[in-house]
Amino acid sequence: MRVFILTLFPQIIAQATSFSILKRAQEKSVLEIIPINIRDFTKDRHKITDLPPYGGGAGMVLKPEPIFLAVEHILKSCKITKENCEIILLSAGGKVFNQEMAQSLALKKNLILIAGHYEGVDERVAQNLATQEISIGNYVLSGGEYPALVLTDAIARLVPNVLENESSLKSESFQNKNLVEYPQYTRPQDYKGLKAPKVLLSGNHKEIEQWRKRESEKKTAVRE
Ligand SMILES: C[S@@+](CC[C@H](N)C(=O)[O-])C[C@H]1O[C@@H](n2cnc3c(N)ncnc32)[C@H](O)[C@@H]1O
Repeated sequence: MRVFILTLFPQIIAQATSFSILKRAQEKSVLEIIPINIRDFTKDRHKITDLPPYGGGAGMVLKPEPIFLAVEHILKSCKITKENCEIILLSAGGKVFNQEMAQSLALKKNLILIAGHYEGVDERVAQNLATQEISIGNYVLSGGEYPALVLTDAIARLVPNVLENESSLKSESFQNKNLVEYPQYTRPQDYKGLKAPKVLLSGNHKEIEQWRKRESEKKTAVRE
């Protein structure tokens, strides 16, 4: 999978994706994460990416032109067709991201994620360029870089061969309906009087499985 991330701050993306699972997936060439600087697609001498909003109001709005040009450049230079690509605008007002959306996006060969900044992005990007508008939750961040990274991480771990041990996906939270994962414990069995459940040390796989199912349901019920 290729993930292009359009941003005014490509360093944030490059840094954050150079560790752990995302780093190893890129080394194995199962995943390519390509930060694209929106500023590189400006046409004027001052490389202006944002202007005050029409109608007045606070802050600056990202101009449509450099974003349209950046996406057109990616599609053309990488020979990407609209069918094997999703163009996502990160936006606080978008559809709230969940595991089901991550599973569906993990089937795509190419993702183009557009990170806004300041007061946001000219609406023509949402209406005429993006195929989806996605939010990572009902709160406002300063920029779309962290939301883009959240999507990239959640989607990438569902792409075949990204995780070293894909069996861990089976029991993970939200993989099975809305169930969250059962509680996990490791050594020591007794930490300052706080004990790991005996059943997990029993070696009885059937009982362990039943305990995990019960605990998973309990944890899910508490959240609802
Ligand atoms: C300061 S925010 C703009 C907020 C906008 N004025 C509003 O009220 O919805 C700047 C950028 O951060 C990103 N952003 C902020 N919160 C987000 C969220 N919850 N989910 C996804 N992206 C978000 C978007 O790309 C947005 O264009």
